[in-house]
Amino acid sequence: MLNLLLVLCATVLNGVFGANILFATVLPSPSHHIWHEAIVEGLLKNGHNITLIGHEKPVIKSTNYTVLQLEIEDLLNDEAKAEFISSLQQPFLSVQFEMWEFTVELAKHDLDSPILTRLMEYPTDSFDILIYDMVVPHLLPLSDHFGMIPIVGTSPYGSNPMLAESFGHHFYTYFPNSALPYADDMSFLQRVENYMYYIITLGVKCYYSKTMNEVIQEKFGKDTSSIASYENRVGLLLSNYDPILDFPEPVPPQIIPVGGVNARPAKKLPQDIKEILDNSKDGVIFFSLGTNMDLSFWSMDTIKTFLTAFSKLKQTILWKYIGDDLIGVPKNIIIRKWYPQNDILAHKNVKIFITHNGALSTHEAMYHGVPTVGIPFFMDQINNAKKMETKGLGRSVDFHTLTAEILYKTIDEVLQNPMYKQNMKRLSRQFRDRPETALERAVFWIEYALRHKDVSNLSTKGRYMSVYQRENLDVLVFLGLSMFIVIYVLFSISTWFADKAIFRRDKKVKQH
Ligand SMILES: *[C@@H]1O[C@H](CO)[C@@H](O)[C@H](O)[C@H]1NC(C)=O
Ligand SMILES: *[C@@H]1O[C@H](CO)[C@@H](O)[C@H](O)[C@H]1NC(C)=O
Ligand SMILES: *[C@@H]1O[C@H](CO)[C@@H](O)[C@H](O)[C@H]1NC(C)=O
Repeated sequence: MLNLLLVLCATVLNGVFGANILFATVLPSPSHHIWHEAIVEGLLKNGHNITLIGHEKPVIKSTNYTVLQLEIEDLLNDEAKAEFISSLQQPFLSVQFEMWEFTVELAKHDLDSPILTRLMEYPTDSFDILIYDMVVPHLLPLSDHFGMIPIVGTSPYGSNPMLAESFGHHFYTYFPNSALPYADDMSFLQRVENYMYYIITLGVKCYYSKTMNEVIQEKFGKDTSSIASYENRVGLLLSNYDPILDFPEPVPPQIIPVGGVNARPAKKLPQDIKEILDNSKDGVIFFSLGTNMDLSFWSMDTIKTFLTAFSKLKQTILWKYIGDDLIGVPKNIIIRKWYPQNDILAHKNVKIFITHNGALSTHEAMYHGVPTVGIPFFMDQINNAKKMETKGLGRSVDFHTLTAEILYKTIDEVLQNPMYKQNMKRLSRQFRDRPETALERAVFWIEYALRHKDVSNLSTKGRYMSVYQRENLDVLVFLGLSMFIVIYVLFSISTWFADKAIFRRDKKVKQH
C-alpha cells in the first residue's frame, strides 16, 4: 500500500510518467542507431512509450517500443554504401558536398515513404515530445504535425560544426574540427586551416539548405518553416561529447553533454567467448573496425598485412569481420561476424583494442580503460585518433601506408609500455566519478523538457546573434573607425597648430 502511494506520489510529482515519445533518427548509420538505442533503453526503464522512425532494425525488444523502419535498400545497397564510404576519404570540401547531396537524396526518398505516411496517420495528439537526430533535418516538421510538441535534439557526432552555429556553440572557431588531426592547442597556421574548415562546413550547409527547404515544403506544405527556424526551436541538444573523454570545450547551457551513453557496465558474456577470455594466458586483443569500415571492403593484400602482423603476436585476437571466410588464418585469431564489444572490453584480460576510432568505440575503450591502436579512416575518427595519442591512451597508424611491420611494432609498443594502460585506467576512474551516469543525465533532460515544454530560456542569446555580432566584427569596425577619426582629428589639429606656429615664426622673422 505504502509502495503504491510512493509510486503515485512520484508519478504526480514528476508528472511525466509514461510519456509518449516520438524518436526520429533518420540518418542510416548503425553507429547512430546504437547510440540512440542506449537512450531508448534508459527511457523505457522510466516507463515511457517510444515510437522510433529510422532506417535501422531495432535491437531492443519491448512492448513499449515500436519501430517504424523506413526502407533504404533501393537507395543504399551494399555497393552504393561502399562507394559512399570511400568517397568520405576525399578532400574535406568534396566530402561536405557529397554528404549533403546524399542528405537531399535521402530526404526525397524518406518523404515519399509509405512508412512515413503511416506515422502521419496516427492521431495528431499521439506524442508528447519529439527526440530528433539533428544531422539530417527533413523530418523536423513532424513536431508541427503532432501539435507543436517540444523537440529535443541529439548529436551522436558530438560537437559538430554544422550544429555548432545553430546551437550557439561558437567555440568552434578556435577548437579543432573533428576531421583534422589536431589537438586543442593549435598553431597559427593550424588555426587558419581549422577556421577554413568551419567556414566551408557552414557555406556548404547554407548552399544546400535552400534545396532542402524546397524538398521539405513539397511534402509538408508551402508555409512550412525553414530548417533554420526549426533548429532555433529545438530547446536542448544532447551531444555525444564529454570533457574527460574528449578535449574539454566550453559548452553553453542549451547543450547537454551526454558523451558515453553507450558505454556501460558489462552484461553477461556468451559462455564460449567468456571461456576464451578467461583462459587466455597472454591476454586478448580485440579488433573491430566498427559497423562501416569492415575490412571485407578492402583488398586481400590488406587483409594479409593484418594476418602477418597478428601471427607474430602471442595474444589471442578476437576479430570482427563480416566478409567471406578467410584461408590461412593463424591459430591465435578467432574471426566472427559479431562480438558484444562493450562486454568484451570490460573483461580484465583484454590488453588492447584495435579500432577505427569511431566515437562510440573510443568512448567504450575509455570507459573500460583499454588502450587503443587506432586505424582512423575519415571524419571524427581522425581527430579521435589524435586525441588518444595526445592523451597518451594509445597509438595510431595510417591505413594507406600500413605494413605488417608497422602494425606489429605499434601493437607491441602499446603492449609493452605500461603508461598507456595506466593513463586509460585513470581516465576511466575520472569519467565514472560523477553524480550521475551519462545515460541518467540524458533521460533527466528529456524528462525536464517534457515537464517544462518550452526551455528556450536556457539558451544563451548568442545563439540567435548574427555571425558579425557574435564575432564582434561590428564592434571592431566601429572601434577601428572611431580610433581612425580620433587620430585623424588629433593629427589635423596638431598640424594646424604647427602650421600656425611656423607662420607666426615666419612673420616674426620677416618683421626683424
Ligand atoms: C509500458 O508503459 C506503461 C505506461 O506507459 C507502463 O505501465 C508499463 O509498465 C510499461 N511496460 C514495460 C514493459 O516497460
Ligand atoms: C505506444 O505508442 C504506440 C504508437 O507507436 C501506440 O499505438 C500505443 O497505444 C502506445 N501505448 C501507450 C501505453 O500509450
Ligand atoms: C523567458 O523569459 C522571458 C523574460 O526574460 C519571459 O517573458 C518568458 O515568459 C520566459 N519564457 C519561458 C518559456 O519561460
